[in-house]
Amino acid sequence: MKKNSIFLSLALVVAACGQATTPQERLTAHDGEINKIIAQMSLEEKVEMLHSKTNMSSEGVPRFGIQDIKYADGPFGIREEGVPHGFQSAGWVTDSATYFPTGSALAATWSKELAYKYGQGMGAEARRRGKDIILGPAVNIQRLPVGGRTYEYFSEDPMLAAVLGVGYVQGVQDAGTAACVKHYALNNQELNRGSVNVVCDERTMREIYLKPFEATVKEAGAMAIMPAYNKVNGFYCSENEVLLNQILRKEWGFRGLTVSDWGGTHSTMGAALHGLDVQMTGDNYLGPALIDSVKVGKVPESVVDDKVREILRVRFAIEAIPDDKCNLETASLPESRATAYEVASKSITLLKNEGGLLPIKKDVKKIAVIGRNAIALTQSGGMGAGVKSVYEVSPLQGLQNKKPEGVEISYAPAYKDYMGMFAFWRGPEFLKNHPEISAEIDAPADPEMLAEALALAKDADLVIYFFGTNKSIETEGSDRENINLPLDQERIAEELAAVNPNIVGVMISGGPCDLVRVEKCIPTLVQGWWNGLEGGNALADVLYGNIAPSGKLPFTFPVRLADSPAYALDNYPQKSEIEGDLFGNMYRQDVSGQRKRPRAVSSTAYYSEGSLVGYRWFDTKNVPVMYAFGHGLSYVDFAYGAVKTDKASYKEDDTIKVTFDITNEGGMAADEVAQVYVHRVDATVEWPFKELKGFTRQTINAGEKKVVTVEIPVRDLRYWDTVSGDWKLEHGKIDILVGSASDDIRQSVSVEI
Ligand code: BGC
Repeated sequence: MKKNSIFLSLALVVAACGQATTPQERLTAHDGEINKIIAQMSLEEKVEMLHSKTNMSSEGVPRFGIQDIKYADGPFGIREEGVPHGFQSAGWVTDSATYFPTGSALAATWSKELAYKYGQGMGAEARRRGKDIILGPAVNIQRLPVGGRTYEYFSEDPMLAAVLGVGYVQGVQDAGTAACVKHYALNNQELNRGSVNVVCDERTMREIYLKPFEATVKEAGAMAIMPAYNKVNGFYCSENEVLLNQILRKEWGFRGLTVSDWGGTHSTMGAALHGLDVQMTGDNYLGPALIDSVKVGKVPESVVDDKVREILRVRFAIEAIPDDKCNLETASLPESRATAYEVASKSITLLKNEGGLLPIKKDVKKIAVIGRNAIALTQSGGMGAGVKSVYEVSPLQGLQNKKPEGVEISYAPAYKDYMGMFAFWRGPEFLKNHPEISAEIDAPADPEMLAEALALAKDADLVIYFFGTNKSIETEGSDRENINLPLDQERIAEELAAVNPNIVGVMISGGPCDLVRVEKCIPTLVQGWWNGLEGGNALADVLYGNIAPSGKLPFTFPVRLADSPAYALDNYPQKSEIEGDLFGNMYRQDVSGQRKRPRAVSSTAYYSEGSLVGYRWFDTKNVPVMYAFGHGLSYVDFAYGAVKTDKASYKEDDTIKVTFDITNEGGMAADEVAQVYVHRVDATVEWPFKELKGFTRQTINAGEKKVVTVEIPVRDLRYWDTVSGDWKLEHGKIDILVGSASDDIRQSVSVEI
């Protein structure tokens, strides 16, 4: 028997025993029944399922008692109920939920287990709200430091984003809800997101941008996918034959449903023939026009049947909750709140601790908390997804809740609030009546507010200065114009540090900011994220030293924005006179007082940096960074012992077992995230200098030495070969680099593959 036929027979035996079911194939369990239903449905009934019924639902099959599908945003908490045909609040009192840390905060935990628990919590709360599909996770790569949705997304690294995405999706789906992974694909900028054409070479697309989607589909069996607003290589994502039919369905074996981003469907024929199942929202494309197209023979009815089948597979996999069994009380569950706390506590990232101001010393009795971000709530706001949280502990509140006896805390906001267009929309009177709101993002500090803050700072044993962005600055619908700190926060930092050098800076933001000035005057810096409803308590526990910080950056903080790849190569922002669409570019118009109607004109985003995204760029090009990918300090030191592998040479189907020990040399238990990168030594193919290929989060007691093993399947080291159109392994020598951050490699070992 030839080798191939042995494999074929084996595959058949395994399939016959029912053991070869992939996570996607599980969706097809009811196809027999579903096909019978489809055979009895009229064309009109079928097409009724292919577009929105309300803003957040699509039709079932009433004649067969099949319920509508109910969707919920996503991605960091189940969004409050909206009115049937819009996003405005429906004014319910039973729709509050758990506000989980946002995407970049979850990613800073580098923990698949936590992503799983997070997904489980989301899934369970969705069920309590009667929702079938969560519009999340959002797994796009953080390509630009200014990206408006960096806070929703996970990472600049595809492996980290993939691992977290898989955990999240498995958690959601194990809780009985479907996950809709978004935004497929290459939705890496908000600028003109509704029209921009992303031009990206196939190798980069496969190795970087599609990776997290591929993993959530193949490994986690994601039941739904949301095509993005933008175009990829000339075609809108919602009608992109290559992305939807060729790659997603044929190659990855996706069996679930695709639902366009809201307002992201663009034609009847394109959407019908090239892979979209559900138009959200409206029925102008996949509604009466589709019925006509079928009737005149332009779209085969079998195409409609395929869509209905994919929708029904999800409907059959997810139990519909009757109206009288959901929304009886708040969706938020104690377990979810505990997960939100755990994620927050493990995401907080200590950027530097010169002079050892943290953890806060016992002799600190007077703390001045300075900066409006200490009280700003981040559950909702801006344009993007949000949650009506059951509660939210602000950083100031957390510091109050957890303060040791005898500690006094004072607070001054120091800078105004900035609401961008949200203030503008409320009219000129609003700003007049709200002197605490600044109309300008870069307005100079208010002298009285600054004086008040300086007086408190001078009189304190320790100053904790909260700065950073807010949800009007980082938001869906527009990217930031730069990564500068807003509202004169740098000068405020300098003045505070001048009156009291015992100053800790805590940045509250979803994405990176330019820290050049702040870093010079503040000796201790913490990245505090947008950290969910327990964020303030978690932060306080870290600052007071009840737990050690253990977050690691999921993206690079560049020194200057201009250093980052898309800027260095002049690929972004795309130069055009357009105003964008789907909310694009509204800030500038608001501040200048002009309110132009956004309109859609196409621009092109060339991803000419190829796979050199984030640290891959900085490493390969030797460009210094402010804080590197994977960076994050602890209150203890970790020593890394020599690293070894189980073999010296590996074949394509092998797994490299990388073993080393980590010793906690400090006086308290702490978590360390050890990272494993691969550097190709004698490559002929072009590679980034190094790439993350494995990591592990470990809790290590004071003085304990832990032996850990990280596994790297050799197949994960393959590249996309554009000539054969397939993954290919480049044989040769590789260095396996083990460390505490991408710029803090402690040990290495070489192997042959
Ligand atoms: C966003 C999606 C979201 C959808 C529904 C769109 O504007 O891009 O992420 O799920 O709205 O709220």
